[in-house]
Amino acid sequence: MIDKTMTSLTIRRPDDWHLHLRDGAMLQAVLPETARHFGRAIIMPNLVPPVVTARQASDYRDRIMAALPGDMDFTPLMTLYLTEDTDPLDVANAHANGVATAVKLYPAGATTNSASGVTNFDRVRPVLETMAEIGMPLCVHGEVTDPDIDIFDREAVFIDKVLKPLRKKVPDLKVVMEHVTTQHAVDYVRDHRKNLAATITTHHLIINRNHILAGGIKPHYYCLPVAKREAHRIALVQAAISGDKRFFLGTDSAPHTDPAKLQSCGCAGIFTAPNTMSCLAEVFEAAGKLTKLEAFTSLNGPQFYGLPPNEATITLQKGDPVTYPGSIETADGPVTVFDPGFDLHWRVTENP
Ligand code: DOR
Ligand code: ZN
Repeated sequence: MIDKTMTSLTIRRPDDWHLHLRDGAMLQAVLPETARHFGRAIIMPNLVPPVVTARQASDYRDRIMAALPGDMDFTPLMTLYLTEDTDPLDVANAHANGVATAVKLYPAGATTNSASGVTNFDRVRPVLETMAEIGMPLCVHGEVTDPDIDIFDREAVFIDKVLKPLRKKVPDLKVVMEHVTTQHAVDYVRDHRKNLAATITTHHLIINRNHILAGGIKPHYYCLPVAKREAHRIALVQAAISGDKRFFLGTDSAPHTDPAKLQSCGCAGIFTAPNTMSCLAEVFEAAGKLTKLEAFTSLNGPQFYGLPPNEATITLQKGDPVTYPGSIETADGPVTVFDPGFDLHWRVTENP
């Protein structure tokens, strides 16, 4: 069903529940692209070296705030990178002081800068139990790293082999399955009502694996978890437009310079910060569910994290195709902006 009747939509200012801002020159260049439309974002800690301690998170937050243009209103919600040496007390203090909102679990070797992640999940049990007690969410990169497991199956195997046992051992832990890419993950979240939610990226609602591999390899569509077949993309769209409170936006906007992506071993990550809201409006409109956009981008996330929705609003207006720059310049080199492969008609205006 195509909803062609609406031409204007005012919603609470959205939040991004999974974002890579990087550091230094890259941070400077990409931060305004998110702060322009989003009120808050969960900031990924996979810097080099990673953001492990409360002190590191607090310092990183200071660098983000220093890079924020004076006229922009944006709150970074910090995460701590979970290692097998993470101190439960440091995590609890970071949470109590408002320095860190969540902890991020990367299985060691799963993705960009995840070498310090977790190999033996029993070793992080004390941290997870502390988090369960204080109600601090765990954000999970849900892919196994076993080289024998096909890359397209790594999310499904992670759910069965790691996540299910882990949630059984620490049932009170609040878990966000990040950037889900499969029907399997959507079903798992739908079937488990307690302490579980999932973020969905902009690009996984739009591309499938053909976009990456058919008719020539497209490095700018390569990310992790890698996009799956079309049936999975459709399952993600169904989850996003359903209004179900356990699904919300986490763009996983992950900038890499073009030289870092366009090489024999290119980096994983898609930069969607500039045009995400226009892309999402197009996806929700095509599904006849524009009225559910606000729940996905602005209401469900805060509710899971126990925060109020943003007071401010944005308005999306439909008109002639709106263009975004193909890339943004950074002192490290150009960063290509996600190309959805179709025209965008919805432009975003901030409301005073
Ligand atoms: O595609 C990705 N890029 N997936 C991740 O999990 C990490 C991210 C990055 O940091 O570039
Ligand atoms: Zn990410």
